[in-house]
Amino acid sequence: MNLRDSILQARIAGHLIELDGPTDPNLDIARAIYGFAGRPVLFDKVSAYPGWRVLAGIASAREYFALALGVPTTELIHKLARALEHPVAPPLVGDAPCQEVVEPGVDLTRLPILRHFPFDAGPYVTAGILVVNDPDYGRNVSFHRLLRLDERRFAARVVEKRGTDTAWRKSADDLPVAICIGNSLPVLLVASMSPPMGVDELAIANSLTPTPLVACKTVPLHVPADCELVLEGRLTHATAPEGPFVDLTETMDFVRAGPVIEIDCITHRRDPIYQALLPGKLEHKLLMGMPKEPTIFAAVNQVCRCTNVVITPGGASWLHAVVQIEKRGPEDGRAAIEAAFRGHGSLKHVVVVDTDLNPYDPAEVEWAIATRFQADRDLVVLADQPGSSLDPSGVHESGKKSLTAKMGIDATIPWGAERTAFEKVQYNTRS
Ligand SMILES: Cc1cc2nc3c(=O)[nH]c(=O)nc-3n(C[C@H](O)[C@H](O)[C@H](O)COP(=O)(O)O)c2cc1C
Repeated sequence: MNLRDSILQARIAGHLIELDGPTDPNLDIARAIYGFAGRPVLFDKVSAYPGWRVLAGIASAREYFALALGVPTTELIHKLARALEHPVAPPLVGDAPCQEVVEPGVDLTRLPILRHFPFDAGPYVTAGILVVNDPDYGRNVSFHRLLRLDERRFAARVVEKRGTDTAWRKSADDLPVAICIGNSLPVLLVASMSPPMGVDELAIANSLTPTPLVACKTVPLHVPADCELVLEGRLTHATAPEGPFVDLTETMDFVRAGPVIEIDCITHRRDPIYQALLPGKLEHKLLMGMPKEPTIFAAVNQVCRCTNVVITPGGASWLHAVVQIEKRGPEDGRAAIEAAFRGHGSLKHVVVVDTDLNPYDPAEVEWAIATRFQADRDLVVLADQPGSSLDPSGVHESGKKSLTAKMGIDATIPWGAERTAFEKVQYNTRS
């Protein structure tokens, strides 16, 4: 199930929008994608970039992931949880589509990298995943937005204390890196997971769908064989200003010094598709949030019976979650709140609901808060907690973990109460 299989599925299902007019990667393409938010869009011609196509939106709905993984949307969380528990080492192949063409030289200005807004610092790679090797923990795979600086160099946004950052800080020399663009949906999902150190994200992807790897040409790394484009190079210890750029919260992220990546070799498929995504929009949100649902699910299941977890788009798909539990004791709601914060360190607000409500429906969740919750009894507030660097209302100090207050709302039926007083009356429309 590679990217092209998902494009075919989207075409057959009638989701795909195909545009054949030449379009400019400098603002035009991003503007067009915004107009089709939530739908996959394939640009068959890109002005000044003959031979290239551009794709966005292929991961912008839960339904598209469900199609790619062959399960109903409600089963996605369980499928991801199983793959996290049972990674399968990916096979290595000799010949790979992503190496059909080895470019004779390096010129990043020949790739249709999009500029999204006039106020962006420049053209940005938004759907690129970095593969690096940590000397202690092995391979790490993670998304990093990349600002093109010139023909050979990017400035990368590398969040502190995560896999790429840890490996980079351990290496006195340049750290070899491979940037993969045009990945399958499972590879995109695992690239935003943070499994325990030492667990290979590509083995999780391979457990979701066969994900063969190939050795890179110039760096000692392996990459998904059927991605569209690979940029091989080095994460150096030089830095350059990175930003401004829109982040997940749809607000402007600060300008920071980001490590510079130098590219030494470019390989790609014969008729390559450049994949992009809109910062802050649905695709970015789903890719960030969905992989956190199984980790919250696992943490809550350690303290009570959890039946579902939904990271909600209104909370930037990062800061808010709804946790559904089958309540079996008076403290389950509170225990679920505390466990949810352990399951996803950036989570800021969580609502716990019972199994009779649909956690995907914001109106039902609000109804539970209105009818089952009392603030002086069921509210958990935690001050000065480590939180997300993305929340503009948090306390951010350079080199330190961001701080935030956290809030949990236990909107489950109070233990020992008469249940019928809290249940929605079902209307019988038959007689
Ligand atoms: C679309 C998208 C863009 C992202 N951009 C960045 C980024 O620019 N820098 C970064 O450090 N993390 C970024 N992330 C988050 C990382 O992929 C995520 O934190 C990852 O789980 C880190 O993995 P690790 O803990 O194994 O290193 C992005 C995630 C998504 C889905």
